[in-house]
Amino acid sequence: MSIDKKFIDKFIKVTTKAAVASSYFVGKKNKIAADKAAVDAMRSELNNIDMKGQIVIGEGELDEAPMLYIGEKLGTNNGPEIDIAVDPLEGTNFAANNLPGALSVIAISEKNNLFKAPETYMEKISTKIKEKNVVDLDYPIKKNIFNLSEYLNKKPENLTACILERPRHNQIISELRNLNVKIKFISDGDVSGALLVTDEKYSVDIFLGIGGGPEGVLAASALDAFDCSFQGRFLFETDKDKQRAKEMGIKDLSKKYELNEIISGDSIFCATGITSGDLVSGIKIEEGKFISETLVTHKHSSLKKVVKLKQNLSG
Ligand code: FBP
Repeated sequence: MSIDKKFIDKFIKVTTKAAVASSYFVGKKNKIAADKAAVDAMRSELNNIDMKGQIVIGEGELDEAPMLYIGEKLGTNNGPEIDIAVDPLEGTNFAANNLPGALSVIAISEKNNLFKAPETYMEKISTKIKEKNVVDLDYPIKKNIFNLSEYLNKKPENLTACILERPRHNQIISELRNLNVKIKFISDGDVSGALLVTDEKYSVDIFLGIGGGPEGVLAASALDAFDCSFQGRFLFETDKDKQRAKEMGIKDLSKKYELNEIISGDSIFCATGITSGDLVSGIKIEEGKFISETLVTHKHSSLKKVVKLKQNLSG
């Protein structure tokens, strides 16, 4: 089974509309308004699509978020059953402060092929290497770097690791420094960070560290289409988190998930730039038109490209 190609343009439209709506709040120091604009536009576009869609990763639980909550049904109810993961505004700080890298992101799969991830942190690792036992979440940093170095035939000092700049990563950062590895620090936006391993032009050999679980699932769906590797392990800190995970069907709370346990089968991933970043340019508005860029992947047709649109704002 695969997802009909006709859906690709429809989901590009979803993140594009959300990005345009959010772009009006760029640099306005108002994360909530920027996020709400993206959520409203995304939800309204999703409801135009002929599908039986259901949110598996969204803006929270029904009692917390009135829109795009986990379990919400979307679409015209006339079409294939589709699981949907959304991050209408990935990088709320970036949008609020007009910094590079704010994105509107969606990933969809055929029903029951996208992991229902709780809203908790996730330990993650991604590289472009598919072979097993080269890089692994369970290996010490040193082993991963030495293996990567050997595999890529690059000295550790010529390798680059991308990581969110957070105090929780001090230990990893100091180990990477001791190994002389170059570090690309990101202040936010680890969907994009994880995807920097997909192309040589980004000069990132490994992405690692702890970030949002939902962001991990979204990144995994694009990495699957790029034929890269990803592993993730959820980190449940509070009893409430643990309880919720069990309710969502997670039995082993410390399980390491392989990419295809997170996303399997066919999928579509779209990320539209709100502000310009490594992956795509941000929204530009001029003379009643917007210009947008969306990174889109479709697993089944091996599509991986940036789609540029110039359209009337009223369209
Ligand atoms: P928001 O867009 O929700 O602000 O998330 C940005 C982000 O940087 C994610 O990309 C990342 O997964 C997460 O926050 C990291 O969380 P924290 O800021 O708590 O370390």
